[in-house]
Parts: sequence; C-alpha cells; structure tokens
Amino acid sequence: MTILITGAAGFIGANFVLDWLAQCDEPVVNLDKLTYAGNLETLTSLDGDARHIFVHGDIGDSELVASLLAQHQPRAVLNFAAESHVDRSIHSPEDFIQTNIVGTFRLLESVRAYWNQLEAEAKAAFRFLHVSTDEVYGSLSATDPAFTETHRYEPNSPYSASKAASDHLVRAYHHTYGLPVLTTNCSNNYGPYHFPEKLIPLMIVNALAGKALPVYGDGMQVRDWLYVKDHCSAIRRVLEAGRLGEVYNVGGWNEKPNIEIVNTVCALLDEMRPQADGTSYRTQITTVKDRPGHDRRYAIDAGKIERELGWKPAETFASGIRKTVQWYLANAEWVANVQSGAYRDWVQTQYAKEDVLQ
Ligand code: NAD
Ligand code: TYD
Repeated sequence: MTILITGAAGFIGANFVLDWLAQCDEPVVNLDKLTYAGNLETLTSLDGDARHIFVHGDIGDSELVASLLAQHQPRAVLNFAAESHVDRSIHSPEDFIQTNIVGTFRLLESVRAYWNQLEAEAKAAFRFLHVSTDEVYGSLSATDPAFTETHRYEPNSPYSASKAASDHLVRAYHHTYGLPVLTTNCSNNYGPYHFPEKLIPLMIVNALAGKALPVYGDGMQVRDWLYVKDHCSAIRRVLEAGRLGEVYNVGGWNEKPNIEIVNTVCALLDEMRPQADGTSYRTQITTVKDRPGHDRRYAIDAGKIERELGWKPAETFASGIRKTVQWYLANAEWVANVQSGAYRDWVQTQYAKEDVLQ
C-alpha cells in the first residue's frame, strides 16, 4: 500500500509526511514542484528512508502523474499542492489560476483515468482527498455564526477564488464520474516549518532580527488558528473514515484578532529570548497599509468532524504557540536557509519599507 501526496515539501504537506511516517510504515510518494514555498530541507530527517519517495514535478504534468500512478499504484491521492499566500495572489494571480485551478483539474483527470481501470476492490477502497481552506466561504461579521460546511461560497481574494474553483471541480468529479473524493476546509494553520511570509513566522523572525512587525490596518481582523499537527491528524482521520463526497470543516475553535497574536508572540519572545536592554519586542510593532479586500473574520464550526469522526484538536492555542516559538528559536538555520534571494525580493515588493527589509 502506498499513498501519493502532492505539495509535501510545503508547510502542511511536509508536517503531514513527517507525522505519517512517524506513525506507520506505509510509503509516501511526494510530488512537489518546489516553488519558492517548497523546501526539501524540512524533510532531511527522511534522507535514506525508503518509505519516502520524492518526485520533483507539477500536478499539472499529466504524463508524469499518470506514470507515477501506474508505477506506485497508490490507494489514495492527497492534494496539498497549491499556491497558498493571499498577498502573493493579489500581486500575481496567474500562478494561482495555473496551479490551484488548472493543476487540480489535470490532477483529477489523471486520477480519474487511473481509478477507472482499477480492479473492483481497489476501486472501492481508493480515495482522493483534497486539502482546502475556510477562505472559500468569504468574510464574517463580528456576530455571524462560524462557517459550517453548507455556508455559501463567497471567496474574496484570487487565492480563495482559485481554491473555491478547485473545490467545485473535486465535487463535480464525485457527482459526475463517481470519483471517491473527500474535501477538508481548514482554518489558518501555524507551527514548525511555516514559511516566514505568513503572519506568525514573519513576526517571530522579524522580531528576532530587530525589524518592524507589520500589522495590516487596525490589526482587528480575526483568524481561527489551528496547530498544524492537529490539521494533519484531522486529514488522517478523514482519509480513514470520512464519508465519500463529504466536506469536513477543520478548526481549533480559536478565534483571535491579529494584534493579539502579535502581542502573544512578542510576550513569548520577551520570556524566552529577552533583549539585552530589557525592551519588549512589542516596541517593534508597526501599522502598515491594509491588504486590499482584506477579509475581516474567519471562524470554523468544526462540529461535523467532531460528531461524525470523533476528531478534536490536541493543542490549545497557548500550548501550540509556545511550541511554535520554541521551534523557531531552535531552528534558526532552517529560517536562514529559506530566506533566499527570492524571499528578499518578495519582502521588498510587499512591504516597500526599509525597516522591514534585511
Ligand atoms: P505552502 O505554500 O507552504 O506549500 C505548497 C507546496 O505545494 C509547496 O511545496 C510547493 O512547492 C508545492 N506546489 C505548488 N505548486 C505546485 C504544483 N503545480 N505542482 C506540485 N507542487 C506544487 O502551502 P501550505 O500552507 O502547506 O498549504 C497546503 C495546502 O493546505 C494548500 O492547498 C492550502 O490551500 C491549504 N491550506 C493551508 C492553510 C494554511 O494556513 N497554511 C490553511 C488551510 C488550508
Ligand atoms: P496570513 O498569515 O497571510 O494568512 P491569511 O491571509 O491566509 O489569513 O495572514 C493572517 C492575518 O494576518 C491576515 O489577516 C493578514 C494579517 N497579516 C498582517 O497583519 N501582517 C503581515 O505581515 C501578514 C503577512 C499578515
């Protein structure tokens, strides 16, 4: 038995593979294009481990995907591969359309052809699990109830629109062709190996480097944070027991405004790596111009996955964020290595402020 995972050199996919192989011996074929967000250094602990087969390639490369499916005969395909950063999608949406929409479509086509020719038993057992986001549901007001799986799709950024399109394609492949699909829509993740363009790792690395901590607008946008390992356990559970064609929302019941997140990171750093002059890292917080079309609030109702599949997060935000800050303090080399030339160009484009730059 083997599973094929796409995008597993990225933040969540790599955490998923590390957890998977820590818990079982079923081999993983990891297909990743190694965009700026893909980093094989995250998986160096698997060097020489025959259970991890890395393949450099694009989910949209139908020939490659067909040959991988024929060669490895996976019992499941888990699709993590995506362009995932909202701000990048605002600057250059094209890559999001290519990978998230066209790439997912081509992957579905390749998987459908493979699945169609499987023997009855393998066909019945096969799963295509699509990893998606709560951002497809759009933005909530302060008093709206949290997103359930039946919430209307109202994506507001090129990123969320492209993920919404991919979710619809996955759904259509189930209803039209009978492909045995599962979809998870998760809230914001945080934890080890998170690329420092996203809020939490950016705040940690900028604070330690003595740079500004750029908070968009009034900092009162709300996100619902989930420790990445809890997202991984939810995906494993859905793969194992999810009902075909169903969507499962995944979240940590943990809504927080951005400014509170930034203050918490600063407080943990003040405790774990106090500055020589006793100044708090909070003094580095800077307000910058807001993201265009910035969604005000996301909140996930994770009741369905809890009721049907008995899944619950293991970490609280307090325990997860503490582990995360500790991880970044202990892994300065990993951070330094991802801060490549391409990363610096991005920071220049996005913030255009000297104090956020190297
Ligand atoms: P990431 O940007 O860290 O990693 C994406 C990975 O996909 C990278 O390794 C990249 O090289 C690879 N990739 C990109 N285009 C590819 C292509 N065409 N073919 C093959 N590989 C390609 O993203 P992440 O944060 O790990 O997110 C993984 C998935 O989870 C995404 O689908 C994302 O939409 C979803 N998600 C993310 C979050 C979050 O908070 N990060 C929350 C909910 C859902
Ligand atoms: P991000 O980590 O990019 O995730 P998403 O946009 O997918 O939710 O951003 C999380 C929140 O933090 C979002 O409301 C935007 C905000 N933010 C900042 O205030 N400053 C920053 O430098 C970044 C990257 C994000």
